[in-house]
Amino acid sequence: MEELYFITGNKGKFKEAKEKLKYLDIELIQADMEYPEIQASDLKEIALFGINYCSESLKSPFFLEDSGLFIEELNSFPGPYSRYVHETIGNDGILKLLLNINNRGAYFKSTVGLYKDGPHIFEGVSRGTISHEIRGQGGFGYDPIFIPENNSKTFGEMTTVEKNKFSHRGKSLEKLGKYLENGVE
Ligand code: IMP
Repeated sequence: MEELYFITGNKGKFKEAKEKLKYLDIELIQADMEYPEIQASDLKEIALFGINYCSESLKSPFFLEDSGLFIEELNSFPGPYSRYVHETIGNDGILKLLLNINNRGAYFKSTVGLYKDGPHIFEGVSRGTISHEIRGQGGFGYDPIFIPENNSKTFGEMTTVEKNKFSHRGKSLEKLGKYLENGVE
């Protein structure tokens, strides 16, 4: 069976990828390998830098994934700074910033960078709103405060299978899966 490495230290991301790509005849392996996340406004640029960096030492096919939360009322903040913002002000801080704000529109974007005979990029977007309170124990990161479009539950209240149906990562991984299956980008 062909091996494919997913470079991530995030167990939640790996669980989602394992579930989404389980139909493929591929052994997905988690590789917790450090790579520099450059400060750029574009997730694609960050992912491309990461895969080119990792391809120097990893010779088997691999992918990595970079994502961000973009909040309308905050002019797309935190976007590429999502990790730092989550580590500093967290979900409580985001809810405070949106206190008494009616426009709660937001979206998540996921960029998968695959390195297999060269670099390939697959993107997925999930639109929705920021909840008024923290809800759910599932998932990770901003999951307990994000409600995808046409849903009442937050990602934090969903199972992995449910989240994958609506999420940014579910969509980018779906494109990755199709590419691995039949080479169509
Ligand atoms: P990164 O892609 O791992 O750099 O993620 C940036 C930040 O966004 C981290 O704080 C993650 O926890 C958060 N994040 C990324 N993807 C998701 C998701 O699917 N749900 C909730 N938070 C996420």
